[in-house]
Amino acid sequence: MKIDQFEMERMQSTWENVVEMDMSESGVRPVTLREMAEMGLDLDAILNMPLGYSQSNGTIPLRESLAEIYPGATADRIEVTNGTSEANYLLALTLLREGDEVAFEVPNYMQYGGLPKSCGALVRRFRLRIDRDWEPDWDEFDGAVNEKTRLVYISNPNNPSGSVLSEDAMWRIVRRCEAAGAYLLADEVYLGAEIHCERTRSFWGMSDRVIVTSGLSKAYGILGVRIGWIVGPKDVVGECWGQHDYLTIGPNKISDAVARVAVKAENREKLYARTRAILQHNLPIVREWAAGFGGLLTFREPRAGALCLMRYHSDTPSYELCERIRVNQSVLIVPGVHLGLEGFIRLWLGGKPEFLSEGLRRIGGELRKEQVRG
Ligand SMILES: Cc1ncc(COP(=O)(O)O)c(C=O)c1O
Repeated sequence: MKIDQFEMERMQSTWENVVEMDMSESGVRPVTLREMAEMGLDLDAILNMPLGYSQSNGTIPLRESLAEIYPGATADRIEVTNGTSEANYLLALTLLREGDEVAFEVPNYMQYGGLPKSCGALVRRFRLRIDRDWEPDWDEFDGAVNEKTRLVYISNPNNPSGSVLSEDAMWRIVRRCEAAGAYLLADEVYLGAEIHCERTRSFWGMSDRVIVTSGLSKAYGILGVRIGWIVGPKDVVGECWGQHDYLTIGPNKISDAVARVAVKAENREKLYARTRAILQHNLPIVREWAAGFGGLLTFREPRAGALCLMRYHSDTPSYELCERIRVNQSVLIVPGVHLGLEGFIRLWLGGKPEFLSEGLRRIGGELRKEQVRG
């Protein structure tokens, strides 16, 4: 199976541990095992844990706790995976065949920009419009979804804009999927990472065509344990389990134990509150910094997620600009072109304040050269 390079992931994998400052992330700085212990993780039990295989679709207690988050869901409608990315991947393997189409929102996390093609499916893009407060371009959306569409992929809250769809927009997307007989794959890994606004509504329950993926990496701040999940119709979830048997069998046992603690209602709320506090503290730092560039930088503030998508007003391609920042300042950020949107850069909002300020200072040094050129 041939697959196009996932540009952003490859760029991050190549440089994130080489540069002095990695500001290409999109989740908040990670929670420690000690913090997990303070929330009830039994570290002694982990020391005595036989390192065997775990239940391959997620332990029953974990799936039962997850089911409580999604009203009407039951443990047999949930597959626990190695991160949200594996959840999305299993769904492509399960649902997509030669000749199918996928409607894909941009800007976005570009996994579904490249993955469907490797399954023989055609990707049709539709834009979120910054000039319409990041609502979808409805003409493009209607054009992208047709009777061949097997699946519509969106991330909500969205990576990289940090925008959240209105309820009207959500219903419009759901109804169109129903009419076309398509599944809606709602990647909700940023749900719970709202900065000032209320909790994002889940697509779960709006239609039986809805499949939700999510995980611990972003709103929970628990990236390294690599836990994600799928919630969906029983038959689809069952087939994903079949794909999982071939791919990685299942998630790791220690990670399942960490996840069981993290997703308990009281801990989930604590972790979301930690994320919110980090983002509420950091957003004004970025706001003030961006204002210092006159008209060179503009941005719509993110409503959720540890990410800040900024438009820069110069002709330099985003990849070239980010490469210059990496080479000259040893700071890694994401070029818009890796997110389906040229002329933008994505900065990380989830670090310690002093880290953020120093990173912004270095990025600013390079951006000022754009001002001089302009
Ligand atoms: C929308 C979206 N989905 C999935 C992922 C991958 O998440 P995970 O670490 O849970 O595999 C990312 C990572 O940036 C993302 O932005």
